[in-house]
Amino acid sequence: MLEARFLTKIYGGEGGMPSHRAVNGFHLSIHPGEWVGVMGPSGSGKTSLLRILGTLDLPTSGELWFQGRELTTLSSEERAQFRRRHLGFIFQDFRLLEALTLRENTWLPLVLSREDPAVMQERSDTMAAALGLDKGWHRYPRHASGGEKQRAAAIRAMIHRPDLVLADEPTGNLDSKASRALLSALETLRQQANSAILMVTHDPVAASRCDRVLFIRDGALMTEVRHGGKRQDFLRRLLTVVSAMGGEHLDLEGMGLS
Ligand SMILES: Nc1ncnc2c1ncn2[C@@H]1O[C@H](COP(=O)(O)OP(=O)(O)O)[C@@H](O)[C@H]1O
Ligand SMILES: [Mg+2]
Repeated sequence: MLEARFLTKIYGGEGGMPSHRAVNGFHLSIHPGEWVGVMGPSGSGKTSLLRILGTLDLPTSGELWFQGRELTTLSSEERAQFRRRHLGFIFQDFRLLEALTLRENTWLPLVLSREDPAVMQERSDTMAAALGLDKGWHRYPRHASGGEKQRAAAIRAMIHRPDLVLADEPTGNLDSKASRALLSALETLRQQANSAILMVTHDPVAASRCDRVLFIRDGALMTEVRHGGKRQDFLRRLLTVVSAMGGEHLDLEGMGLS
């Protein structure tokens, strides 16, 4: 469905400034409905990669194919249209509009595609019920809890049934309970919409929800760990790679693992 070939992103280099190769010859292919995790040290290029795959930034070189189209050659207006139709985004800091309730916030992608309001409301209320979000549903973001806001952000990312959801550390600001709720929400929505998910995370427990996890270092793929068998075994294999990559910042106690 989405295929990246030899993506490279170089920042700087103008006017004698030093240049930095944040993404370095990255290959990737994502299949429909797949949940792919991305892990790697801070500064390894995860956000840069996600932004390029989401057509928010252009690569310095390389190709990005989606259902037979090469996206890096599109105009910025065509890319915006592509994003509205095919992609959903979840950021760590929610990015909800303060002037709208959580419910109204989730309508935005359908408002932009001029969907019938009745369809819009029905769909969002069904998704909210599936995520247990009936209580905070009519609140404004400033009166809602972190977990409620993040679940609303997840609904907004999936309400238009995108082919791919890009999530950059979606549980980064959440405690472990809210984090579990969000991940379960993503799983529920993924099943309903058959959306693929690409999720950057620092948390091996969150990563263990994925079908496979890509480890990146210095902008390149280092290794890939696939689910298969039990989730506990997958988590153990993820932890092995995380610590081999220098997991000194790992909070094992916080993850309930020590
Ligand atoms: N817009 C930018 N301009 C210049 N350098 C950047 C920019 N965005 C990221 N970088 C640099 O690229 C590297 C990778 O950053 P990033 O993709 O944010 O990594 P990660 O998300 O893994 O922490 C870092 O060294 C960062 O400082
Ligand atoms: Mg980042």
